[in-house]
Amino acid sequence: MSTRAAPGGGPVVEVRELVKDYVTRDARLRQHIARAVDGVSFQIHAGETFAIVGESGSGKTTVGRVLLKLTSLTDGAVLFRGDEIHEIPERRFRPDRRHMQMVFQDPLAAFDPQTSIRSSLREFTRLRDTQSRAEENEAIAEAVRSVGLEPEIADRRPSQVSGGQLQRLSIARSLLPEPELLFLDEPTSSLDVSIRGQIVNLLLDLQDRNDLAYLLVAHDLRVVYAMAQRVAVMYLGQFVEVGSRDQVYANAVHPYTRGLLDAAELDEPPRHGDPVRLVGEISEEAAKKPGCRLTQRCPFAVERCEEPQPLRETEAGHLVRCWRAIEQPVEIGLPANE
Ligand SMILES: Nc1ncnc2c1ncn2[C@@H]1O[C@H](COP(=O)(O)OP(=O)(O)OP(=O)(O)O)[C@@H](O)[C@H]1O
Ligand code: SF4
Ligand SMILES: [Mg+2]
Repeated sequence: MSTRAAPGGGPVVEVRELVKDYVTRDARLRQHIARAVDGVSFQIHAGETFAIVGESGSGKTTVGRVLLKLTSLTDGAVLFRGDEIHEIPERRFRPDRRHMQMVFQDPLAAFDPQTSIRSSLREFTRLRDTQSRAEENEAIAEAVRSVGLEPEIADRRPSQVSGGQLQRLSIARSLLPEPELLFLDEPTSSLDVSIRGQIVNLLLDLQDRNDLAYLLVAHDLRVVYAMAQRVAVMYLGQFVEVGSRDQVYANAVHPYTRGLLDAAELDEPPRHGDPVRLVGEISEEAAKKPGCRLTQRCPFAVERCEEPQPLRETEAGHLVRCWRAIEQPVEIGLPANE
């Protein structure tokens, strides 16, 4: 399967200061604007997995949908191989759409229940340069084999294969247009824990073979640990901590990250710092205040936390949005800064 290198070895995709507002109307037709994503920036290189973790409603899926231009943005930019895709008219963007694909949480959503898997897959072969029916069938057979299945399985309907097989087939579907970037939105969470590892290994293997860039969103912090090189922790539309996988897992400093990791009870890696228990629940109201959005839930909140908190670098490549983690680590149960 061919992939094109990003020009000059730069990132496949770059997101700059992304803002996304959703406009809704209530029963009285009054307009409400909710900021689902508030100033998010990151890059993903070929062969790399960038993961976003965070509780439900934090804006993870919205970031991925804007990245793939499945929905518009309010502010900021998304550069795919250097081009701002939200400024390109849809007609001119269409040939490029094939290079960015999505794997859904629920593989059933990827297939038409009324027809064979083959006919759903066939639509995706048309996004590339295949010409004849024989070429289409060969492309489908190759994609199905690449996810570890026999090509004949494509003659069945979605209800006639197991959940694990169907997720493999939905991955095959997303590979058919020969993408450079895959948005994996909870790719294993609809599956039995016993087969999650197989899908993780398959995704890692396909990434290796095709030099794919992955944006991974997952609640399962073990899956993220197994797959990602870099991780962003998102809370109410903002990244609160960003770093390499080990910076975020072993050296987490933001109280929110520490709370998530402690709640997940991971066996590895060993973590620095005291355990943190977050109280209460995520509430969109907190996003309307200028200061830290975690103040109601953070055991370390003090008055100064009501001031705006920028993302600041604590060490090379490790960013955190919490003044106490940077200036008063020991007071909030972290090892002293060297
Ligand atoms: N189409 C939409 N119209 C209005 N609001 C939306 C829409 N899609 C998402 N939202 C809101 O935007 C916020 C972020 O939603 P999003 O689905 O991106 O979160 P998420 O982190 O993916 O959550 P989950 O883990 O549950 O999938 C939420 O408050 C959600 O209610
Ligand atoms: S800024 Fe304050 S409230 Fe926010 S995470 Fe840091 S210590 Fe907690
Ligand atoms: Mg989501």
